Amino acid sequence: MLLEIDNLYVNYKSYWYTLKVLNGVWLKVEKGERVGIIGESGSGKTTLLKTILRVLPQNGIISKGEIRYDGRNILKLSDSELAKIRRKEIGMIFQDPMAALNPVFKIRDQLYDILKYKMTTEGHNPSSKELYEESLRIFNDVRLPDPDRVLESYPFQLSGGMRQRVMIAMALASAGKLLLADEPTTNLDVTIQDQILKLIHRLVVEKNLSIILVSHALGMVYQMTDKVYVLYAGDIMEEAETRKMFNKPKHPYTQLLIASTPRLSSVGVGEGIRGKLPDYRNPPAGCRFAPRCPYVMDKCINTKPSRIQLSAEHTVSCYLYD
Ligand SMILES: Nc1ncnc2c1ncn2[C@@H]1O[C@H](COP(=O)(O)OP(=O)(O)OP(=O)(O)O)[C@@H](O)[C@H]1O
Ligand SMILES: [Mg+2]
Repeated sequence: MLLEIDNLYVNYKSYWYTLKVLNGVWLKVEKGERVGIIGESGSGKTTLLKTILRVLPQNGIISKGEIRYDGRNILKLSDSELAKIRRKEIGMIFQDPMAALNPVFKIRDQLYDILKYKMTTEGHNPSSKELYEESLRIFNDVRLPDPDRVLESYPFQLSGGMRQRVMIAMALASAGKLLLADEPTTNLDVTIQDQILKLIHRLVVEKNLSIILVSHALGMVYQMTDKVYVLYAGDIMEEAETRKMFNKPKHPYTQLLIASTPRLSSVGVGEGIRGKLPDYRNPPAGCRFAPRCPYVMDKCINTKPSRIQLSAEHTVSCYLYD
């Protein structure tokens, strides 16, 4: 097992209130496994990925839980151990590229830092010519034009699409074992989206990387993953092998989510799911989906359902299967 998350609780605090976002999240990623996370906007997907990499904003508090990565407890690592992991083992493609790049350093310094660290730990001390050539190769992979200018630029001097590709290049260079991809192609124009996805796919296969892919594009999740988790309002509602999840979803939320995505369902038009996410200041005590669920029962309101193992590759948290 490369990554194992258990019973993870994350809150955002402000002076006036606490948002109780992640509510006992669990998740497992094997070496080389490709895992998808789906769920509507505001469910906590980005929060979860940032928690794994320990890059939550300052008001994000991990109140409980365990994250074991490659035999180590991520929540107990020192800053220097974390820095090593971020440079060489876990790469993250952020939904917001500005958040990933350091505004005060030129792209060259940020990219060379990763490359140098990687090559040095592989027993080779690279010359600046080698670093430069490796950068050109990486930028070519992500179809980034004008590499010389990009290297000499600060992040704010680049266009949004260029920044996104620089960030993808850096994430791929630092992802020795695990790639966290949060909506990796949403800020890119369509012509390049497909190329970037193919590149990610190729690297995942070549390097036997594990990947956690977060996306609203369910078709992409279907194509690119082995297993999917459904996250709703900070709770894992269902886990299944990808084909099973899309063909035979069990949780009412998953069923509605998939049915509301027109191209994937045979039901036809997507109507969306009625109602909205709960208020994280005062979330439902039982199943967090209960207020919107067409099959809601009394017990759903008061007590959170536990995990039910339907088969080896299918788990659901819902009283309908109790
Ligand atoms: N720094 C923060 N301070 C306070 N609340 C936050 C902060 N970051 C996120 N939140 C809240 O936490 C909840 C989950 O946000 P998150 O960004 O993890 O959702 P998401 O599933 O990634 O959504 P999307 O699909 O839109 O990217 C939201 O209600 C959001 O407003
Ligand atoms: Mg997000």
